[in-house]
Amino acid sequence: MLSVANLSKTYTSEHRTHQAVRGVSFQTRKGEFYTLLGPSGCGKSTTLRCIAGLEKPEQGEIRIGEKAVFSAAQRIFVPSHKRNIGMVFQSYAIWPHMSVLDNVAFPLVSGDRKLTRRAIKDRVMNALSLVKLEELASQPAPLLSGGQQQRVALARALAHEPEVLLLDEPLSNLDAKLREEMRLQIRMLARRLDVTTIYVTHDQLEALQMSDRIAVMHDGRIVEEGTPKQIYLSPRAAYTAGFVGRVNFFEGSVKASESEDATVNVETPIGVLACHVAQGPSHSEGEKVLVAVRPEGISLSMERPAQRLNVIRGVLEASMFAGDTQDCIVRVGRQEIQVKADPLTDLPASASVYLHLPPARCVIIRELAG
Ligand SMILES: Nc1ncnc2c1ncn2[C@@H]1O[C@H](COP(=O)(O)OP(=O)(O)OP(=O)(O)O)[C@@H](O)[C@H]1O
Ligand SMILES: [Mg+2]
Repeated sequence: MLSVANLSKTYTSEHRTHQAVRGVSFQTRKGEFYTLLGPSGCGKSTTLRCIAGLEKPEQGEIRIGEKAVFSAAQRIFVPSHKRNIGMVFQSYAIWPHMSVLDNVAFPLVSGDRKLTRRAIKDRVMNALSLVKLEELASQPAPLLSGGQQQRVALARALAHEPEVLLLDEPLSNLDAKLREEMRLQIRMLARRLDVTTIYVTHDQLEALQMSDRIAVMHDGRIVEEGTPKQIYLSPRAAYTAGFVGRVNFFEGSVKASESEDATVNVETPIGVLACHVAQGPSHSEGEKVLVAVRPEGISLSMERPAQRLNVIRGVLEASMFAGDTQDCIVRVGRQEIQVKADPLTDLPASASVYLHLPPARCVIIRELAG
């Protein structure tokens, strides 16, 4: 549906030259909700702006449906207003001197598709009803709340029924509660309209909750791509594991594998860990790897647990009650391990505790560099 191939974009100003996007490639299916996730400055907005036709990349190709809207090799650059896209910006750019209706109608009135006044009105009211704002159509836009303005921006992006919806951190100006509500609304709306959506955020939870697939970006590149479950539960890159959620890393080397239960033993500073192996190339004896284990994947107990594998003794260094969990730091030798413990467990300071790291939660990552 949307395909981006080997996209590169460099900004040159008098102060510096900066390659913001370095060979980004991805493809989405029709109706897919695809998220670019990464820290500030990693090139998310630049990638989106290239797709929108607001920036001209030096290299690569962008196709919307069958049509190339940009190709460096073929010298194609379709201007923004001729690409069939709708976009909501990081600051959602509502025009203050216009009513809600005029804001949403603006791209239809100013575009070069000739529509009758009646057709424009119908489309605008339809878009406003999608975001449940019909009754506010005649209001001046500045009188709306932040969440309502955000929905106006969304209606404006949807009004001309785009093939691709581009959303750049559209919820960043909203308070936490409204942000959660809008996440769900946007997700449901995109699904109902079956519109291909590229969503940009630096918020990992937002990405996990909303996306069909996530591309994790770092320094102008896509580091890893996968479903939310793949990205969170079995990341392939250390960068992904560290960026999306909290994680403990143990450096280790592979011992002989026990293929009968699909685990591999890894010698680590906290002992031998049996680790689940996903499909893919097998591990060789002596190979240096990282084992990633999330704090909530570890169970903590005062008594020795019944399991045979991956039970480790440690000393409780610190614990902090956090309502639905207790955040603990447990020391095992020289390693500090983050653990989420049951909030009902009584945890005396400096207690001797047992940790169980189920093999399914011990993920082997090949690359050692973060
Ligand atoms: N118009 C510009 N001129 C020069 N450099 C720019 C310009 N726009 C962005 N950059 C630089 O390009 C890099 C990527 O910027 P981009 O806006 O794509 O990041 P981002 O991932 O969207 O970050 P954020 O989460 O903060 O919005 C940054 O280092 C930024 O400083
Ligand atoms: Mg940005």
